Amino acid sequence: MRRLDIMGWIAIVGLTLAAGCGEAEHDARASSGGAGGAGSASAAKPPLFGEGPPPAVGAAAQAAELYRGACAGCHGERGGGDGAMAGALTPRPTRFADAAWQAAATDETIAKAIVEGGAAVGKSAAMPARGDLAAQPELLGELVKLVRGFGGR
Ligand code: HEC
Repeated sequence: MRRLDIMGWIAIVGLTLAAGCGEAEHDARASSGGAGGAGSASAAKPPLFGEGPPPAVGAAAQAAELYRGACAGCHGERGGGDGAMAGALTPRPTRFADAAWQAAATDETIAKAIVEGGAAVGKSAAMPARGDLAAQPELLGELVKLVRGFGGR
């Protein structure tokens, strides 16, 4: 868990710096709260700036939480393209477990689809854009890794 803790801090520091630039502030605030469910991971973190324990958990845990809440409903808990809403969509949500899809996709196109939506990469416009993640590269990177992790098994 130590590595996740460090990653989390990097994310927080990065977000703080991004927020200092102005426009990213709202998104950074909105995403750093509310990511519960991994309480034990944050218990041992030392305060960095003397402001008490940080609100966010590691970026990987945050990505898993985000996936469950915002992606699994279409793409499925395990990336099988079989979420509760999948049957209502044509084309169906991408099955991340598909080795051929994994081989054809690049980390860049995956990230672009997530941030700009399906239409931006020539896929279904039913795939929603998450523009807020553009300001959170650490979290976006972990989300791409998570999508990759569903493949090749
Ligand atoms: C409303 C349903 C829905 C939700 C919610 C959704 N997706 Fe999708 N997603 C789709 C559909 C539909 C496609 C496109 C399938 C196609 O055109 O072949 C897609 C495609 C993708 C692709 C493939 C892009 C490519 O280049 O092949 C990725 C990656 C992806 N989604 C990631 C995510 C992630 C991560 C989330 C959560 C942040 C998410 N999606 C949320 C429906 C959804």
